[in-house]
Order: sequence, then structure tokens, then C-alpha cells
Amino acid sequence: MTPKNDLKPFLTAQEISKLVQSLSLTLEADYENKVSEENPLLVVITLKGGTFFAADLIRSLRMPLQIDFVRVRSYGSGTVSSGQVEFLRDTDIDPNGREVLILDEIVDSGHTLAMLLEHFRAKGAKSVKVCTLLNKPSRRTQTVPVDFCGLEVEDKFLVGYGLDCDEKYRNLKDIYYI
Ligand code: IMP
Ligand code: MG
Repeated sequence: MTPKNDLKPFLTAQEISKLVQSLSLTLEADYENKVSEENPLLVVITLKGGTFFAADLIRSLRMPLQIDFVRVRSYGSGTVSSGQVEFLRDTDIDPNGREVLILDEIVDSGHTLAMLLEHFRAKGAKSVKVCTLLNKPSRRTQTVPVDFCGLEVEDKFLVGYGLDCDEKYRNLKDIYYI
């Protein structure tokens, strides 16, 4: 797909890949003594945007893990957060007693993660950590701990590599800003 002219290059696929590799090393070191074959990491992927990042990151992780998905919607349309988070799908796997790692592609206002953190804590997870490819701290309105972050970015609306604008552009290999 050829990107439209109003998309400005932000991160190339190669740059994204470097961020993902670096995150996988950090995660392996952090979870080395916390997970095992008997107690695999439960990686929770946020649909839909987190799937591209997750697919790359998970295949780089050398540790016992299971994956599951949540679907949360915070953007009705366009580029402005409604602040309202809808929980549309929960995990099949019971997080009780588990080391849970939530993967998201970007943290913006923090509403999505604040809700997910509370959800998994309430369900009895042993630990809940957050790993995001991108983080926009200047946009934060909810305090959320971001345990692992690929890159802090300024306040730009980004698309590609799973990130969408009205469901478009997720399939772009590079990341652009509008
Ligand atoms: P938050 O709840 O405001 O932190 O928003 C989190 C979700 O909004 C992210 O997981 C994305 O799905 C979406 N989002 C936030 N910023 C962007 C962006 O720049 N481009 C595309 N989607 C975004
Ligand atoms: Mg998301």
C-alpha cells in the first residue's frame, strides 16, 4: 500500500525492529527469575492495534509464555480520545495468580491502561506490568505505570504498524504522523 501524501515518515520498519529487539532483551532480563515452564508469563495483547507489535515482540522472547487478548475501545473516531473506555473482550485464560504483561502499541491519555490494570489486579494477578512500543507522556490524564517503553514520542497522531486513524493505515510497515 502506498501511503498518502499527508502522512509524514516517523519511524521506519528497521527502527521499529530495533526498539522491539531492545524491549525483548529488557523483558527477558526482568522476567528471568519470575516465570518458568510451570508458571509461564501471561501476555495480554490489546486488540486491535497491539497485535503487530505483539507478534514481533513475542517471537523475540525466549521464555515460557502464553498469550491472550483483550479488546478495549477508547477512540470513537478521529484523533481525539473520548476519555470513555469500553471493555469489549476479556481474556479466556484466568489471570488469577499469574504474572501478567499487558502489551499495547501506544499509551496516550492512560485511560485504557488504568482500566486494564485495575481489571487484572481485581482478578488476582500476581503482578501486572505494562509494555508499550510508544508512549506519549505529555497527553497523560490518568496516572499509569509504564514498566517497559520502546520510545517516548511527542504529541503527534501516529498511524501504521497497527496504529489506525478510523481503522485505516494499520497495515503500513513504517509509522507515520498525520
Ligand atoms: P489511551 O486510553 O488514551 O491511553 O489510548 C490508548 C489507545 O488509543 C491506544 O492503545 C491506541 O489504540 C489509541 N491511540 C492513542 N494514540 C494514538 C495515535 O497516535 N494513533 C493511533 N491510535 C492512538
Ligand atoms: Mg491500543
